[in-house]
Amino acid sequence: MDNLRFDGRVVIVTGAGAGLGKAYALLFAERGASVVVNDLGGSRSGDGSSSKAADAVVAEIRAKGGKAVPNYDSVVDGDKLVQTALDNFGRIDIVVNNAGILRDKSFARISESDWNLVHDVHLKGAFKVTQAAWPHFRKQNYGRVIVTSSNSGLYGNFGQANYSAAKLGLVGLCNTMAIEGRKNNINCNVIVPTAASRLTEDILPPDFFAELKPELIAPVVVWLCHENCEENGSIIESAAGWATKCHLVRGSGILLRHKITDMVSPENVRDVWSKLTDMSQASRLNSIEEASSTLLGVIDEIKSGPQTKNENISVFDYT
Ligand code: NAI
Repeated sequence: MDNLRFDGRVVIVTGAGAGLGKAYALLFAERGASVVVNDLGGSRSGDGSSSKAADAVVAEIRAKGGKAVPNYDSVVDGDKLVQTALDNFGRIDIVVNNAGILRDKSFARISESDWNLVHDVHLKGAFKVTQAAWPHFRKQNYGRVIVTSSNSGLYGNFGQANYSAAKLGLVGLCNTMAIEGRKNNINCNVIVPTAASRLTEDILPPDFFAELKPELIAPVVVWLCHENCEENGSIIESAAGWATKCHLVRGSGILLRHKITDMVSPENVRDVWSKLTDMSQASRLNSIEEASSTLLGVIDEIKSGPQTKNENISVFDYT
């Protein structure tokens, strides 16, 4: 079996002083990459800073014969992280946007500063670091980007409205970066991890926590960043030595009017609600073009008259 190697590749892992980021940095270095170990070294809620976390991981990588340098800037200063890569290794190939904090509060109690800081670290940080690397990716016709979402973003979680919003924002960011990067061999994917770390130590039950080693997720992220991996624009969930792909899906829908001259009333909507929300025939759409083209099909169908009339609709005829 050919080993997957990263010799000559330069990777920035943000928030690599602990938890998942540390596991990613160690595995990339073990596979020959030169690693910028970024970590602000603050508290779980984003207060303070320290060089200790990044320094410890760099020391560990070097002790094992790997190549790494520390960077202590916040991800919101993304250009400084990329400059560290260029100054020390002369290039940048891979950005793993992993840095994160929590400021959990019920929705009613979220302050504007909690909202802003959570969005700054997760969403703006990923934007700034990746955008600073982007021109280099385009010039060399190669780049790999990971953004880190969460099941809290995909499904919601009590007390995490600020975090959920930022985490689903990262999916949107990745969706479009994947489209714009494709022609330059820049692949962007989302990782949705569940792992034992200081972010989850008081959230996950102890038995479950013990089985969720970050090292079990690192190989998934490392593969997604390899030059042989063609995955692009996907959401990959991983935990406990398991991984899968996640999709948004759309139901098959229901016509709310019979003729192109008909209007739609709230009562029409109410009367077909169970069919409108039926997901038994749900499917995945691959692009915004596909979403638009099905709408064109809907208009054609209304113009030519539906094959089977929906008896639930009592259409108001405005003609
Ligand atoms: P962690 O707290 O162990 O690691 C996050 C690291 O990011 C810390 O070392 C911290 O100092 C650093 N950091 C925070 N703000 C920073 C900034 N502005 N600039 C640079 N570094 C900064 O947490 P964990 O669990 O390893 O989380 C990693 C990522 O995975 C986060 O984005 C988190 O939201 C996400 N995640 C984690 C899950 C889990 O189960 N552990 C679940 C879903 C998502």
